[in-house]
Amino acid sequence: MPRITFILHDGTRHTVDAELGATVMETALKNDIGGIVAECGGSCTCATCLVHVDETWSAIVGKPHAEEDQMLDAAFEVKPTSRLACQIKVTEALDGLIVHTPAYQGR
Ligand code: FES
Repeated sequence: MPRITFILHDGTRHTVDAELGATVMETALKNDIGGIVAECGGSCTCATCLVHVDETWSAIVGKPHAEEDQMLDAAFEVKPTSRLACQIKVTEALDGLIVHTPAYQGR
């Protein structure tokens, strides 16, 4: 089972098991990770599941698709490695993934 580490804006780290096929957002909610709101439930319409993918993982996770990219335009505190956690599917290749949550989720 892949493991994902969430690093909160205050530096707190949470490493959790993630189910294959779930999203990073679903993994965060299931494990009570603070900093992920996910208002729209994963339909890519709220941008409140923003994460900053760790630099070491950015190329593996990949770039946002067009619809996600549009939502990122409306998000708060976006960085070059930002993604919407509901659009990242957990695969074996993401075992060890590190993402950072922003101080605030909003748009
Ligand atoms: Fe709404 Fe990801 S949960 S955009």
